[in-house]
Amino acid sequence: MTEPILEVKNLTVEFKLHDRTIRACDNVSLTVNRGEIVGIIGESGSGKTTLVFGILNLVQAPGEVTAGQVIYHPKGGRPVDLRTLSPEEFARYRWTNLTSVFQAAQNVLNPTLRVKEHFLETVWAHDPNAREEDVLAKARDLLSQVRLEERVLDCYPHQLSGGMKQRTIIALSLILNPDIIFLDEPTTALDVITQWYILEILKRIQKDHGLTMVFCTHDVSIIGSVVDRLGVMYAGELVEYGPVLNMFKKPTHPYTAGLMTAIPSLRDDVTKRKAIPGNPPDLANLPDSCRFAPRCFAHAQGLCEGDRARTGQLYPSHPGQYTRCYSWEKVFKS
Ligand SMILES: Nc1ncnc2c1ncn2[C@@H]1O[C@H](COP(=O)(O)OP(=O)(O)OP(=O)(O)O)[C@@H](O)[C@H]1O
Ligand SMILES: [Mg+2]
Repeated sequence: MTEPILEVKNLTVEFKLHDRTIRACDNVSLTVNRGEIVGIIGESGSGKTTLVFGILNLVQAPGEVTAGQVIYHPKGGRPVDLRTLSPEEFARYRWTNLTSVFQAAQNVLNPTLRVKEHFLETVWAHDPNAREEDVLAKARDLLSQVRLEERVLDCYPHQLSGGMKQRTIIALSLILNPDIIFLDEPTTALDVITQWYILEILKRIQKDHGLTMVFCTHDVSIIGSVVDRLGVMYAGELVEYGPVLNMFKKPTHPYTAGLMTAIPSLRDDVTKRKAIPGNPPDLANLPDSCRFAPRCFAHAQGLCEGDRARTGQLYPSHPGQYTRCYSWEKVFKS
């Protein structure tokens, strides 16, 4: 049975710069169900990190969450709007319920501490009475789940390779039994083989722990085989959201369609791959039309006027799938 674990409603994050305001996350709404893996894809600068920061209360000045709700449904507990909590109340949910692994994650390891001290400090920060041997037993178990040997506990971060560090961080992020984990480009700094390996591990962990994962990347080829549902961001907006297979086979937003044909695959003929022409708009200088209109084949072919007002909402297209393209039926008929 699907039950929501997180409902993001109309979340808006603005950056107030000296002469202008940028909406890096614009009125984004999406629901994540318990136990699923949701992927968020979009070009660099489309607002993926800003969305996750907005959800996790991490936005810092000059940025500000200016609207929206982030409703978290704890297991067996009452739903809570994380945005209405005081910092102290929010801190109770952070790490124990909602955890994260970020792009520059490797910096979270303190070079002067051994891996085991990272596990101990993380747990003791939340439960000063936890017994060392219990924490280390659990740390060993988590390390084995990310295919690391126990001896890693005695290593300093500089003694580990990039892939080992990243797996250590993933194990560390699981030590407090979180309910939902946000992974923002957790593998980008790694080579492709290591990326696949880590994704396989994450998938396994997700199955074994019934974890919910939200996974951001600009590289859809990496997560296509891992996620259950996919959200596509463009210029701060969520433009399409739906079950991953449908998104690949039956996209209903021209931007998603473009992303899918731009995906490299091991089997494919590189010359047939087409990048989407043009660049994303400057967020400080957005077109008055649909944000994607300047790059949209349907707009170029006169199939859609690209009326800005009508892109202000998501429209249901296929089952469980939603698109911001109000002309999707016309554009994707056949
Ligand atoms: N600290 C900041 N100050 C000003 N503007 C910012 C700041 N952080 C983000 N932005 C704006 O928000 C936009 C979205 O940035 P964000 O980092 O969320 O994109 P992203 O999709 O995560 O990109 P990437 O794939 O490169 O990680 C940026 O293009 C930038 O205009
Ligand atoms: Mg980012």
